[in-house]
Amino acid sequence: MKPFEVRQKHYNIRASHEDIFRGELVLVNRQHPVRLPVQADQLRSLDVYPSIHQLDKGMRLDKQCLEQLYALLKACGGMDDILAVSGYRTKEEQTRIYNDSLIERGADYTSQYVAWPGHSEHQTGLAIDVGRLKSKLDFIAPTFPDRGIYRSFREQAANYGFILRYKKEKESITQISHEPWHFRYVGYPHSRIMEEKDLCLEEYIDFVQTYRYSGEQLTLRETNRTTKIYYVPADKGDDTEIPILTNDAYSISGNNRDGFIITTISEHPKH
Ligand code: DAL
Ligand code: ZN
Repeated sequence: MKPFEVRQKHYNIRASHEDIFRGELVLVNRQHPVRLPVQADQLRSLDVYPSIHQLDKGMRLDKQCLEQLYALLKACGGMDDILAVSGYRTKEEQTRIYNDSLIERGADYTSQYVAWPGHSEHQTGLAIDVGRLKSKLDFIAPTFPDRGIYRSFREQAANYGFILRYKKEKESITQISHEPWHFRYVGYPHSRIMEEKDLCLEEYIDFVQTYRYSGEQLTLRETNRTTKIYYVPADKGDDTEIPILTNDAYSISGNNRDGFIITTISEHPKH
């Protein structure tokens, strides 16, 4: 019998110039400031999960990030031992933290551990600092040990879309010192691929850029689904036509630089 011919069909989605600056894969660092304030309805209060310990009531995170943080805390058994120390910050809050740190800890320390105002991932709602609940609190550098449930949190983080953003061996790229407490939500399976390939977000954004709709896509085959990831450069004009492979589901994120990362998923039917 002649095998089926597989044709990749697609349809187009139109993305605006502003869309480059939103989505869970936005790259925020010294070279790439936060370009769009987060919309209030994208954020949710941690109060909706009363079992999460938070430093201050009413702390907020991106909706998806919060949902997955809750799932991760449950999965690693850390709900009663881990404190959510800092989530979403406005630019004004980041400025205050930065200025206080300059006064209290000096310029060297501050440049290592506090992002410039306007350049903090916390301003996206996609970053969460976690700490050991029963330890003396250091707001900028909370204690987060590398053992027990804390290690389990870190080891399972990628399954829930989180990466440890500032690793020791990536300091020269991220320009931030090792922060065992700062986790960034990028979404699954990006987190898993980054973990497996040992890429920090700066490296991953460059890596994905080599995969295109018309060409090879970054493909991850899992038991129940296949994910294809590719980059579409933004058009010079206002809008970009983004071709979407006709899989079961897709998401689009800007990279906060020059284009879009498309993630399409096809679920495999169970037999
Ligand atoms: N501590 C991280 C780098 C921040 O201030 O966003
Ligand atoms: Zn942080």
